[in-house]
Amino acid sequence: MNDNYLLALMYDFYNYNTLQGQNDDIPYYIRQIDKYSSKKVLVVGAGTGRVAIPLANYCDVTALDFDKERLNVLNEKCNNIKIIHEDFLKFNSSEFYDLIIIPYSTIQFDCNKHKLKQMLLKLKELMNKSSIAIFDMSESFNSKEEKCDEFIFEGYCSEVDDKVSVFYTAKRYDEYIKFVIKYKLKKSQKELVEKEKYYYYNSSLVEFLIKETGLEIITLDSGYCNNNSFMHKHLYHCRCKNEGK
Ligand SMILES: C[S@@+](CC[C@H](N)C(=O)[O-])C[C@H]1O[C@@H](n2cnc3c(N)ncnc32)[C@H](O)[C@@H]1O
Repeated sequence: MNDNYLLALMYDFYNYNTLQGQNDDIPYYIRQIDKYSSKKVLVVGAGTGRVAIPLANYCDVTALDFDKERLNVLNEKCNNIKIIHEDFLKFNSSEFYDLIIIPYSTIQFDCNKHKLKQMLLKLKELMNKSSIAIFDMSESFNSKEEKCDEFIFEGYCSEVDDKVSVFYTAKRYDEYIKFVIKYKLKKSQKELVEKEKYYYYNSSLVEFLIKETGLEIITLDSGYCNNNSFMHKHLYHCRCKNEGK
């Protein structure tokens, strides 16, 4: 197993041990598939399939990610999803999708103002007049505390048959926060490091760029359900403003 594949396995292990309310986004997206009567859905930044796999029980799902090893893990878990290994900004498609979902802050992932505009333009390019795009932005990065190599949990990871200790670093910069997740595998004595950078949420900038790129907001939800939790998550539902296609 190469280190990138091990990191993809660690991604699922980390999520399994840390995600709680985040998984409420899955029933949220299932409700949106029903609401918009979507048959063909593209999940951008699908990773190892946390969102894409359950959605495939309700519609025809295409999962896109630029991380090959995460997609390999997805592919091993399920065989009814079309997989595309590509940077979203370079993705060209002759078909349109009824619904394009960019879950779990992926649109903030190493995405400065310029790149955010490119992402929105790419979304628009892949949409026809009835397509809907939903992206999920988190305000939590704006106020997350800095941490330095803090131990967060230890557990047995069956995929690598080893005990793994997980350490977390968060460092704030002017426009983004950088996370370093370190995995120490006990038996194999391996150390794996994942680095990610998320740009802060700025609602005025998002709204400005949505308008500028020819999209329009049709719904903006805060949180995935009505129980007041995860109100720091902002779910933008957009469609194309110019009905030219
Ligand atoms: C926060 S993870 C979310 C993974 C999964 N959807 C989930 O909810 O657990 C973000 C994912 O987006 C992918 N990603 C980020 N920017 C991308 C881009 N421009 N094109 C394709 N994939 C991208 C990363 O490789 C990563 O797997």
